[in-house]
Amino acid sequence: MKGRKATHIPGLDELICDGLPEGTINLITGPAGSAKSLMGMHYVYNGAKYDNEPSIYLTLEESRDSILRAAKAYGMDLEKLEKEGKVYLVDIGKMRVECTASEELEWGLASFETLQDFLKNHISFSHATRLVLDSVTAVGVYYKSTELMRRELFKFARFLKGSGITSMIISEVIGDKDSRYGIEEFIADSLIKMDYESTSGEYRRTVTVKKMRFTKHDPLKHPFLIMENGIEISPDEVIG
Ligand SMILES: Nc1ncnc2c1ncn2[C@@H]1O[C@H](COP(=O)(O)OP(=O)(O)OP(=O)(O)O)[C@@H](O)[C@H]1O
Ligand SMILES: [Mg+2]
Repeated sequence: MKGRKATHIPGLDELICDGLPEGTINLITGPAGSAKSLMGMHYVYNGAKYDNEPSIYLTLEESRDSILRAAKAYGMDLEKLEKEGKVYLVDIGKMRVECTASEELEWGLASFETLQDFLKNHISFSHATRLVLDSVTAVGVYYKSTELMRRELFKFARFLKGSGITSMIISEVIGDKDSRYGIEEFIADSLIKMDYESTSGEYRRTVTVKKMRFTKHDPLKHPFLIMENGIEISPDEVIG
């Protein structure tokens, strides 16, 4: 659909009027193991496969190999799409080779400034229209104060908006908070919360679209399963 980036994740596009609004920043939050990275993998893989759109996946916590392996376990051959120039999977090691100027990469860290420099070049030569940043939590480690991080994050968000790319920004969150640093949700146009809970001995994974600008959306909490081909959301089933 025009003006939207469909995720093609079963059940998700129905909750958000057919896809993420183009040019927006979408925050994907949740605790460890809540399938945030898996959602990001689907977004880039499906974009390339079904819409022929190139994507960049920046993995700052896990290595390229780890993401390739996880995606493959759910039938997504990212390596093949990479060879076809439709997916650019970049980890700290790969950035180090391509951004010689950035000393922090030697320490396994990346600042928003370095990411911006890197992306500026990559977005123009790859013509990527989709981006996953996995995760903003890993970038936060670089900053000594939340104040400094806040300022740099705002600049980075302005850059993303200016580039026209439609992004998923992954943030690890513990407990009931909406974001790790209490600021990411303000730069984001939307907030999708992944979680799991156990009610009367039953373990369930859940997803809630808590906010989405420029569109109507379903705000309820829905269960999802991780099946052979990855995430499957039940849009007709509601929890709580
Ligand atoms: N390589 C893999 N092979 C098979 N299943 C995996 C693999 N990696 C993850 N999973 C499954 O997918 C689920 C979601 O994992 P995922 O890595 O997407 O979560 P996450 O929210 O990104 O976690 P984290 O905060 O630790 O990065 C895991 O709980 C696990 O059940
Ligand atoms: Mg992850």
